[in-house]
Amino acid sequence: MTIAARATGLSKHYGSGSAEVVALDGVDFEVVSGEFTAIMGPSGSGKSTLMHLLAALDSPTSGKVFIGDTDVAKLKDTPLTELRRDRIGFIFQAFNLVPTLSARENIVLPLAIANKKVDQEWFDRIVNVLGIGNRLSHKPSELSGGQQQRVACARALMNRPDIIFGDEPTGNLDSASAAEVLSFLRRSVDEFGQTIVMVTHDALSASYADRQVFLSDGRIIKELRGASQDELLSTMAHIYPRHDQKVEEAVEEVVDDDVSVDPDSDSDSASVEAIYRDGGGSPEPEDSDEDSETVMEQTLPRRAIAG
Ligand SMILES: Nc1ncnc2c1ncn2[C@@H]1O[C@H](COP(=O)(O)OP(=O)(O)OP(=O)(O)O)[C@@H](O)[C@H]1O
Ligand SMILES: [Mg+2]
Repeated sequence: MTIAARATGLSKHYGSGSAEVVALDGVDFEVVSGEFTAIMGPSGSGKSTLMHLLAALDSPTSGKVFIGDTDVAKLKDTPLTELRRDRIGFIFQAFNLVPTLSARENIVLPLAIANKKVDQEWFDRIVNVLGIGNRLSHKPSELSGGQQQRVACARALMNRPDIIFGDEPTGNLDSASAAEVLSFLRRSVDEFGQTIVMVTHDALSASYADRQVFLSDGRIIKELRGASQDELLSTMAHIYPRHDQKVEEAVEEVVDDDVSVDPDSDSDSASVEAIYRDGGGSPEPEDSDEDSETVMEQTLPRRAIAG
């Protein structure tokens, strides 16, 4: 078993004094090579924070991150940029394609920036598996959301990174497009031996992974292997009970056969969704972290893709 990335005693605090937020609280975590790992948890539990730290996009308040054997904190700017560019791939919820470039140009962009040759055979294989061969000359605005995200997947895979990190990669997609992207991520693990870490709060998405890790208030509180969607839903109902519902009721509701788990379907599923979306975390004002989110959206993807 090879370890692709490792976190030890990883903590991240934002702000100070009474405004201090402990986003991550002493996390020990290993990403196994060739595995598809899902990081789950309610909003605000620290999923994105953990992913950004593991991907060397941000630095911790305390603790260490290793990519392979490399202690990320010991790297100066240039080797850190090279590490992100050469060894890590990213897929974001908002696709983050360059609007003025074609699909083909977007896919090879990180290689172009790094002045590297395109491996045409690998390019063809990825594009073929993703089924976007006939869309390569189109700009992102001429592609569906699912196609745009498949282009972003191809871009992440192009330089054969050690690890691909995805933060809610299917969060902006309808259920059919989400299933296509998730099946592709699964295939890239099974067929290319790709290592993937995906942040999601969605049980269906997480069921594509080999391993599911649950966060709450910045700590890992549970781990499952090969769990089905039903197992994930009932685990979530147990560990993130809804504030206005007893755990037993929540579990009953989740395991009830009548409850649909299709996120696009009727009102029954809305209550299931509420269990894992909102359960566990304290209620937050809708736009409480909008500013930091906006900043994140602008800076992290740029750092991730351009190095
Ligand atoms: N730049 C920041 N400044 C201040 N607080 C932050 C910042 N980024 C995150 N936080 C806080 O840290 C905690 C964890 O945030 P994080 O983004 O990791 O959560 P998450 O699990 O990814 O949530 P979501 O599912 O909503 O994306 C939250 O309380 C959040 O408000
Ligand atoms: Mg997040």
